[in-house]
Amino acid sequence: MHSFGYRANALLTFAVTILALICAIASFSDTLSTPTPTSNVQVLNINRFQKKPDGDDEVSLTFNISANLQSLFTWNTKQVFVFLAAEYETPKNSLNQVSLWDGIIPSKEHADFWIHTTNKYRFIDQGSNLRGRNFNLTLHWHVMPKTGKMFADKIVMTGYRLPQAYR
Ligand SMILES: *[C@@H]1O[C@H](CO)[C@@H](O)[C@H](O)[C@H]1NC(C)=O
Ligand SMILES: *[C@@H]1O[C@H](CO)[C@@H](O)[C@H](O)[C@H]1NC(C)=O
Repeated sequence: MHSFGYRANALLTFAVTILALICAIASFSDTLSTPTPTSNVQVLNINRFQKKPDGDDEVSLTFNISANLQSLFTWNTKQVFVFLAAEYETPKNSLNQVSLWDGIIPSKEHADFWIHTTNKYRFIDQGSNLRGRNFNLTLHWHVMPKTGKMFADKIVMTGYRLPQAYR
């Protein structure tokens, strides 16, 4: 005859096995959906554009960041971390990446949004390379699942340019 302890243990083992199976299915089903997020960012104003006393360029911008990231949300999505980065090339570096804004999207209902904002983090170039500089604005995201692997992707928006003169 099995003791109560033995049966409780067997039940627990069974429950843990089922749970592991559900987690595996959950993270697998996530890889089957192909999300189609969209984003559009307008630079509404150049608020300030200066060479700082230490010689580095700094610019302050006002944006309208709009995005629809609802397709990133499945029942297995805990939250989505997004950040907007300016990406540009200089004679010294083929990729300079400056994070300008970020946010956490807690649910699908909040994933279709627009925000009128200035850059939350300072846009500084280590040097004096920003005048007349072409740049891309890239919206990066990290999807944090309830279970399974985190995944990241981005949308690159091209064709932005800083003015030729400080102001
Ligand atoms: C920002 O962009 C969104 C979508 O393109 C638009 O609906 C909204 O009116 C814009 N807001 C501002 C302040 O420009
Ligand atoms: C912007 O992105 C495009 C496409 O990925 C790339 O070809 C281009 O070099 C980028 N431009 C800059 C200034 O980084």
